[in-house]
Amino acid sequence: MKSPKLNHKTLQLDELSPEVLDIIETVFSGFDGAIIIDDKGTILIFTEYYEEISGFKREDVLGRHILDIFPESRLLETIETGKPIIADVWGYGHRAHIVSRIPIISRGQIIGAAGVSIFRYMDEARNFAVKFSNLSTELAYYKEQVKHLSHAKYSLAGIIGKSEAILEAKDRVRRIARTNSPVLIYGETGTGKELFAHAIHEESRRRNNPFIGVNCASIPENLLESELFGYEEGAFTGAKRGGKPGRFELANRGSIFLDEISDLPYIMQPKLLRVLQEQELERVGGTRTIPLDVRIISATNVDLRQGAGLKHFREDLFYRLNVFQVIAPPLRERREDIPMLCEYFIGKYNQENGTEIQGISKEALTLMSNYSWPGNVRELETLMERACVDADKGIIDVDNLTRFGGRNLQHQLHGAPNHPHIRSLKEGRESGEKDAIEAALKAANGNKTRAAQMLGIHRTYLYHKLKELGIVED
Ligand SMILES: Nc1ncnc2c1ncn2[C@@H]1O[C@H](COP(=O)(O)OP(=O)(O)OP(=O)(O)O)[C@@H](O)[C@H]1O
Ligand SMILES: [Mg+2]
Repeated sequence: MKSPKLNHKTLQLDELSPEVLDIIETVFSGFDGAIIIDDKGTILIFTEYYEEISGFKREDVLGRHILDIFPESRLLETIETGKPIIADVWGYGHRAHIVSRIPIISRGQIIGAAGVSIFRYMDEARNFAVKFSNLSTELAYYKEQVKHLSHAKYSLAGIIGKSEAILEAKDRVRRIARTNSPVLIYGETGTGKELFAHAIHEESRRRNNPFIGVNCASIPENLLESELFGYEEGAFTGAKRGGKPGRFELANRGSIFLDEISDLPYIMQPKLLRVLQEQELERVGGTRTIPLDVRIISATNVDLRQGAGLKHFREDLFYRLNVFQVIAPPLRERREDIPMLCEYFIGKYNQENGTEIQGISKEALTLMSNYSWPGNVRELETLMERACVDADKGIIDVDNLTRFGGRNLQHQLHGAPNHPHIRSLKEGRESGEKDAIEAALKAANGNKTRAAQMLGIHRTYLYHKLKELGIVED
């Protein structure tokens, strides 16, 4: 029986054939250069880079001892200790070089060492470091921004009011927040649905994870799917390299807020339903499934179970979203909150605009208590902001309200004007726009996409206008 002798012997570096040495040299030359010595310190490989920095020719160096060429070399140290020296600064000539030294080990025995330069010149390293540091700063900035954007802004304490309706809603939020179930927030425009959504997240265990908002009405229909679920590279023309995560993925471990859910296009509804049921998604154009742990909070000012909502909204999706419901009560049903809200907004706008309003007159408060507030708290807030600027200091009186109270308040106070009263051009324009929008909405049965088409504007712009002009839908 022949014993496989060769297998027991440790191959020594100087036994490598010239062809093998050539291959090793080629590989190292392709990077930043290397010196390889055997366990006795004899130089076996010496690439062009080391020729350049030492001024020695390869032929003159091969076979000589490392210390003859580089008397300060630490390569032998690596052979003695068997430990690599990584990214060491090596001063040679007029420059500093960054080198790593590694022992070459075969079958547990040190048979040589390699010195590999990492950056040919310190300058390159420095450039790299600067670039890297700039990128880190940039990254930190964006991380902060994302944190800012993706965190809930308001807590329960920011929801002002002590009426029974508000206290009850807040109490419900506190209890619901502990669960992971979907919540549907229902309320008229301006009742604070967005505040409630933020508060649910803030009160939950997910508070330190992202809160991602999506306005279902303002994202163009053809982009909605990739916005929500993300896409993979090459999913469509114009897709970003490396793909892009969708809002659901960004919200993972946190909450997603689907605002104006009633405007979710019908074609998207089964897709959303599937994601909610499976608790996982595939990016557009992708095959990989991504598991989801996201709390769904949605909001609507249209009763999804009645009238137009019934036709446009799938029942199965509605039941998925509506596990818990929070109702944001309209202001006219909790008039006792008006003084407290006024005080709060006066404080807010004094600070923002540098005014010095001390309070509000009794008459002004009575006037406000009798008003119907179709735009709810948002309308009250806008009115307070304007009245503060109008009064500038002291007490807000009836005059300050009516001058800036908009048509609704004026009409309710004085009835329609008998003689044409002179308005500023801006007021005229706003009231014209308001009339046109209201008429279009009525003609379109509340369908905003259609109303926007009639008005010749984009749906997103219509939403902007609705808010800006304080238009309340029926
Ligand atoms: N209870 C409240 N306390 C303090 N501020 C409130 C309260 N309710 C609403 N607001 C303020 O009123 C404004 C409108 O609130 P929000 O945007 O949450 O309304 P919304 O119900 O989402 O309305 P829409 O349906 O029109 O989107 C915001 O500026 C919000 O800060
Ligand atoms: Mg809202």
